[in-house]
Amino acid sequence: AMLAACSGEKNPAGGERIVLGFSQVGAESEWRTANTESIKSAVQEAGIQLRFSDAQQKQENQIKALRSFIAQRVDVIAFSPVVESGWETVLREAKAANIPVILTDRAVKVSDDSLYVTLIGSDFVEEGRKAARWLLEQSPLKDGTEPVRIVELQGTVGSAPANDRMKGFKEVIAANPRFQVVRSQSGDFTRAKGKEVMEAFLKAEGSSIDVLFAHNDDMAIGAIQAIEEAGLKPGQDIVIVSIDAVRGAFEAMMAGKLNVTVECNPLLGPQLVDAIHAVREGRPLPKRIVVEESVFTREQAAEVFPTRRY
Ligand code: AHR
Repeated sequence: AMLAACSGEKNPAGGERIVLGFSQVGAESEWRTANTESIKSAVQEAGIQLRFSDAQQKQENQIKALRSFIAQRVDVIAFSPVVESGWETVLREAKAANIPVILTDRAVKVSDDSLYVTLIGSDFVEEGRKAARWLLEQSPLKDGTEPVRIVELQGTVGSAPANDRMKGFKEVIAANPRFQVVRSQSGDFTRAKGKEVMEAFLKAEGSSIDVLFAHNDDMAIGAIQAIEEAGLKPGQDIVIVSIDAVRGAFEAMMAGKLNVTVECNPLLGPQLVDAIHAVREGRPLPKRIVVEESVFTREQAAEVFPTRRY
């Protein structure tokens, strides 16, 4: 209450308005845009005052934003960390200033987990496993004796989703030695880089690529363009598995160009608001709040598409 009083904001009901400082990763993907909208609309509906900062996928910008929230003495800080490591110092500064920190979407690696209240987000390791399970158990390549050559488009280097999706995928494909990742490189979760790296993969591997595993739909969509420009049929000559289940992925599946997408739910706004209220009221929260998710194939795409909210 004291911190809120410093900001002098009143809500329409007459009480002190909670001030939230939120540092977002950037606007790198369809997923991220949906995540930002969900957070903005949920906090607005709750009458929380938002100070929003876009880090343009750079950790240094995020650290600056967090320091500025601390200097402004906001009531709560929430952020989706670009990468996993390097947060210890700034999180200690927030703790020293008595400002609770909530992580959304991505995890941090810190030696002291009292430096944040909770992490609200997906189980990225499980998403990687789901992608691999589909390949091994349901894809057109599941039976046979030939080796299956996989190229992987990784997300942002050092980010929790890239580290964890890679880990979960590897863990499951290890069960079948036919399936091998022959190339793996980061496309930074964007369409432009996904396309660029896929072009390099195609140049190096020619037509010997059987599968593309992309850590998000945007990179898969960029890669689809590169595959078509190389005169190959995406979804057919190269089986494509990606993650997020954004509308663009459904469109690609309905066009037959993407085989499957594993859902990663960006609509975290309402859960963030609940967590903020819990923190303010001193109610305990679990250290980890996981979001429920499924897998969608192109056979289901047309039916499911109208119900998608992002
Ligand atoms: O952290 C979640 C990931 O970040 C999404 O899968 C990706 O699209 C986004 O950029």
